[in-house]
Amino acid sequence: MQPAKLTLNGSEYEFPVTVGTENEIGVDFSALRSTTGAIALDPGYGNTGSCLSTITFIDGEKGILRYRGYPIEEVAQSAGFEEVCFLLIYGHLPSPEELTRFQKDLTYHAMIREEMKDFFKDFPLSAHPMMVLSAMLASLSAFYPWSGDQDEIDLNIIRLLAKAKTIAAFSYKKSVGQPFVYPRNDLSYTENFLHMMFAVPAEPYLVSPVLDNALNLLLILHADHEQNCSTSSVRMVGSSQSNLFAAIAAGVNALWGPLHGGANQKVIEMLQAIRDDGGDYRKFVNMAKDKNSPFRLMGFGHRVYKNFDPRAKILKTAADDVLRELGVDDPLLDIAKKLEEVALSDSYFIDHKLYPNVDFYSGILYRAMNIPTDMFTVMFALGRLPGWIAQWKEMREDPKAKIARPRQIYVGEAKRAFVPLELRAAGETKKSTKQPVPA
Ligand code: CMC
Repeated sequence: MQPAKLTLNGSEYEFPVTVGTENEIGVDFSALRSTTGAIALDPGYGNTGSCLSTITFIDGEKGILRYRGYPIEEVAQSAGFEEVCFLLIYGHLPSPEELTRFQKDLTYHAMIREEMKDFFKDFPLSAHPMMVLSAMLASLSAFYPWSGDQDEIDLNIIRLLAKAKTIAAFSYKKSVGQPFVYPRNDLSYTENFLHMMFAVPAEPYLVSPVLDNALNLLLILHADHEQNCSTSSVRMVGSSQSNLFAAIAAGVNALWGPLHGGANQKVIEMLQAIRDDGGDYRKFVNMAKDKNSPFRLMGFGHRVYKNFDPRAKILKTAADDVLRELGVDDPLLDIAKKLEEVALSDSYFIDHKLYPNVDFYSGILYRAMNIPTDMFTVMFALGRLPGWIAQWKEMREDPKAKIARPRQIYVGEAKRAFVPLELRAAGETKKSTKQPVPA
């Protein structure tokens, strides 16, 4: 493709163009500053490609999501979560032997060091499980060496994946004051998580296949989503060559916010608030449209998807099936459906291209599975873990990767003389030397 041309201050510059597998076009501005002296200004990075990646493809206009080329609908239909972890991290579908080995590794590394159990003791009962998860994941770097040796990195990837679910389940047990339940070697990844969450020492716990399938689906649908806020945080922290555990802990913290993974908790709180308010969902739709109100319909809208979120489409059908199979009749699901119907036929939501996102239905499913509301974002983090690891690994293995260091346009005060405290106390100030910004 012909290079892109930029005219700046009367001079013309050319920049190479990179075309992706699906014909996405990127103008390579990596030499913009060194050739023109200017930088690209793009708050929120909505137009900025931070890397070339082979992991996940999204077409937000067409509602397409693919992991390593495989459509999410087919992956969700046929794969298990461990298989998806392998696919994302190592780039190909595992052979039966590779999968068996990988599953065994994930099982055998699932326990956490006994000393780590004591860390949980000192968090207050009210500690949010996302906070506990991020602190505990960062703590893994205290136990497992990080010299940068390749075998060690490979092992730490397995350890992280295997132990994260144990840490997540322990954080729940801690919040309800129950004894920790250890992982079992005869259970799969998802079965083990459910066992550690819901088993109690007093009685045997049999993992329900309905819950297991639902959890597999939820984790698979969240497994990667290219350069979103948390993944970019993982890459950014990792770009300084900090260790994997530290980079992933940063991803957990970024995911926690209500505009990102924290939305699944907020959706349920919103649906509950609508119910408590008498069920008038139209009132909430109107509030979301009101420019004078900060209220947004949680679970609606996406930076990338502008027609539909394919993950939400899959989850909507799954929510009906799972609730039926579990015999759960959740009035919040009815409210969610009505809210969706009203919003989708409203010109504000149509014009703003606001559609239900993955978080709109995931909370309903988690609720039906008896997962408490403040664990919802932890569930998202467990699902996203293989994606974060794959993205971190890709960045680490990229010979062209550099430390992430965005620039800025400074619009603060121009140079001015410092006024010492004694003079400020005496009420004397010096005039700013700020110059008007030239057009
Ligand atoms: N309800 C009402 N209005 C909305 C909503 C919403 N949920 N989302 C966006 N808008 C409006 C917004 O007010 C703005 O209107 P206008 O142009 O008239 O000022 C316009 O749509 C564009 O909004 P934006 O905030 O500039 O869009 P964005 O691409 O920066 O934000 C978003 C995307 C997901 C943060 C946003 O849609 C949102 O806050 N949604 C609710 C939170 C949510 O569900 N987040 C989960 C995202 S999916 C899980 C994940 O991958 O993280």
